[in-house]
Amino acid sequence: MSAETQHLRILDTTLRDGEQSPGVALSADDKLQIAHQLARVNVDIIEAGFPYSSPGDFAAVKAIAKQIEGPVIAGLARCFEEDVRRCAEAVKPAKRARIHIFIGTSPIHREGQLRMTKQQVFDRAVSMTALAREFQEDVEFSPMDASRTEPEYLADVVAATIEAGATTINLPDTVGYATPDEWRALLAWMYERVPRLHDVVLSVHCHNDLGLATANSLASVRAGARQVETCVNGIGERAGNAALEEVAMATQLHPEVFGVTTQLDSSQLYRTSRLVSQLTGMLVQPNKAVVGANAFAHHSGIHQDGVLKDPRTFEIMRAEAVGAGSSLVLGKLSGRHALKERLAQMGYALDEEELKRAFVRFKELADRKREVTDRDLEAILADERTVADESFRLEHLQVSCGTNLRPTATVRMLFSDGVSRESVALGDGPVDAAYRAIDSLAQVPGELEEFAIQAVSGGIDAVGEVSVRLRRDGTRALGHGADTDILVAAAKAYVHALNRLAESEAAQRLHPELDTDAPAIERLASTS
Ligand code: KIV
Ligand code: ZN
Repeated sequence: MSAETQHLRILDTTLRDGEQSPGVALSADDKLQIAHQLARVNVDIIEAGFPYSSPGDFAAVKAIAKQIEGPVIAGLARCFEEDVRRCAEAVKPAKRARIHIFIGTSPIHREGQLRMTKQQVFDRAVSMTALAREFQEDVEFSPMDASRTEPEYLADVVAATIEAGATTINLPDTVGYATPDEWRALLAWMYERVPRLHDVVLSVHCHNDLGLATANSLASVRAGARQVETCVNGIGERAGNAALEEVAMATQLHPEVFGVTTQLDSSQLYRTSRLVSQLTGMLVQPNKAVVGANAFAHHSGIHQDGVLKDPRTFEIMRAEAVGAGSSLVLGKLSGRHALKERLAQMGYALDEEELKRAFVRFKELADRKREVTDRDLEAILADERTVADESFRLEHLQVSCGTNLRPTATVRMLFSDGVSRESVALGDGPVDAAYRAIDSLAQVPGELEEFAIQAVSGGIDAVGEVSVRLRRDGTRALGHGADTDILVAAAKAYVHALNRLAESEAAQRLHPELDTDAPAIERLASTS
């Protein structure tokens, strides 16, 4: 950190607010994987979940608190005694833990949702902050919907919760209604009106309903905020939250404007984005700042010419700075050692068995595709993760289709009893035919809710990735598949999703209290 800049803390809430994105349901294992990656990015605080919301979320927060080293592990709690106690228990195993409590303070929330008076909200905020302090030294308080709260009242609540022991005050623009100038002015006014705000960390949590989440977060930093709450890829409730990668790069590129430095390892940003996209099933728009597929692509001749002569002509940062350099890495003749080296450089430490499988996949790919890039390798690894513990897997797929042909698919799958079974089906299209054949073998009923395809790298021989989301009653399962043959990728994704659906239903039968795959927040009717 340079002498002139101050430390800006990043609290990443992908595992809590991000999980509130419509349709997203992360399993405990998914959450752990993301938490490990957030630790590699070196965020200061991981908001791991909302422990009171479900036994599954409680277990996930506790597992993260036990296993993840480095960042502070935070849990969210409403201003209810039971919430705070449950949260305290879940984060307890962490070396450094935080309890984050919140209550709606705006008139709309007080009257419309909570049916509480100003005084009741005030008293609850103060007493629950004090309770949280009995369990942890590190307590964050959020007056939800701060941007639509009467400023004088907001200042009174903030002053009283600092008095009661809050060490971080987080002002949320819960509905993404603020604009940068107005928001910055509110923060500056709060510093004047509540002098003790200088004794704690001021944080902001900006939603993106007007596309201003990152701008509002950065304006807050100029007003003195020293913690910003983010989500990877800007996911989150409705239009999402400020994007981790945008806040990271804007502050890194402009220390003279913001006067702060984060401790983030920006070379991990692209990989984090891919992991979160794969596990949530939320594709990243190609023109997404910093991590989108087009973020470093130069299309027009003038731009290409300029970049070839001097990259600074049309690039404010290099793709390598965020770990997105799609360099040509390996080819057909590359050996196991070279693959291991390259994966290690990319931050993957595989055991012998994993490396063996990855090498087989790499050789298959190198036979079909001349240039194997880092992105291809990442797709292979993600695909391998999905098949590692499946109870049935795809062995063979053959599809015939054409202008005057009814699409027909032959599928063979290997089951956990060691027996391979085969089926043939007709369909409206090749994917439909393949899915029908898989259905007749797997016998796991589920409704296809979403199907998305995207190319991992450019060119006709690109690796294609498919994500599918299945639903059965309240349970959702996400599947992911990658292959140079898009039909094979689609079939793998479907088989993966069916496995996960069967798995989570079996887990629910065994442990009905561990309702792991439903998004935590859906189970709470009132969030304050
Ligand atoms: O948007 C919001 O207000 C929140 C709080 C719980 C911090 O997510
Ligand atoms: Zn939020």
